Amino acid sequence: MKFHRDHPEISLAGMGSTQFWNQDSEQTSRCFRMAIEECGITLIDTAELYKDGECEKSVAKALKGIVRDSYYLTGKVSPENACAGKMEESLKKSLLHLDTDHFDLYLLHWRENVDLQEFVNEAERFVKQGLIRHWGVSNFDTDDMKDLLSCENGENCFCDQILYNVVTRGPEYDLFPYLKKHGIMAMAYGSTDYRRGGKDLLGNNALIKEICEKTGLCVPSLMLRFVSRNNDIPALFRTSNPVHLKENLKCFDSDVERYMNLIEKEFPAPDHKVVLEKI
Ligand SMILES: NC(=O)c1ccc[n+]([C@@H]2O[C@H](COP(=O)([O-])OP(=O)(O)OC[C@H]3O[C@@H](n4cnc5c(N)ncnc54)[C@H](OP(=O)(O)O)[C@@H]3O)[C@@H](O)[C@H]2O)c1
Repeated sequence: MKFHRDHPEISLAGMGSTQFWNQDSEQTSRCFRMAIEECGITLIDTAELYKDGECEKSVAKALKGIVRDSYYLTGKVSPENACAGKMEESLKKSLLHLDTDHFDLYLLHWRENVDLQEFVNEAERFVKQGLIRHWGVSNFDTDDMKDLLSCENGENCFCDQILYNVVTRGPEYDLFPYLKKHGIMAMAYGSTDYRRGGKDLLGNNALIKEICEKTGLCVPSLMLRFVSRNNDIPALFRTSNPVHLKENLKCFDSDVERYMNLIEKEFPAPDHKVVLEKI
């Protein structure tokens, strides 16, 4: 496994938790635990939204007995709960579901019509109380980030979790430079583009096929490394399948980095503003 160049406790591959949405099976649970215990993943992502807290409970069940300091736990508050009257209750409920006393990172899931100053005030209060170590946002485009950073203490935002992959490189135009300027980490979901048909699109591309053949990597694995190629954007994915898990992580033990320039040229980043996509 490789780790974030500025945050060595955060692995460049992160395990999502929506695989528990449809099947909280023994295999899903085993695969999740294997990711942490055997494969070196430290980053875990969940949210109160996922099956109304049930995915958080499944994560806790899968992690039972694993030392808390060995993983970096990210949770999310839904916009309707991101206000002074409700956020504390939401956070405490999530922590209870996850059987832990703190989140490493707690995000606003998406902006909607949240009062950003109120969200920041609450998040800062939870940091002081030790309930969260860092706070951040998700699905925030550049203008949303500007609004956030105009709030008092807004500059304490740690992360923006967004949709980013080889075919949605819009954030490279303006969002990533903005985040970098303010020392805010980007984290990617949809990294493999599998959910949106990337399996066919990317799997049929001659260059991608050739690189996969030469390196012995599968397409999702190559895509995870593309997203994290500069060692500064952790790439989330999910799987219930231990074979997929191992296959996907092979890129971190390969010298596939030398092909990244070719992929960048084949799937160029836009030279103009593209509105941030969301799933
Ligand atoms: N902030 C947000 O708004 C937001 C939005 C979406 C997701 N997320 C987070 O990101 C996580 C990942 O979500 P995602 O949408 O990016 O999912 P994804 O990783 O694209 O996974 C989609 C599907 O790909 C399959 N897959 C994975 N590896 C494979 C392989 N080697 N070969 C064939 N199929 C493979 C998985 O099925 P198998 O089980 O069969 O492997 C899975 O069902 C979520 O769990 C969630 O925590 C956040």
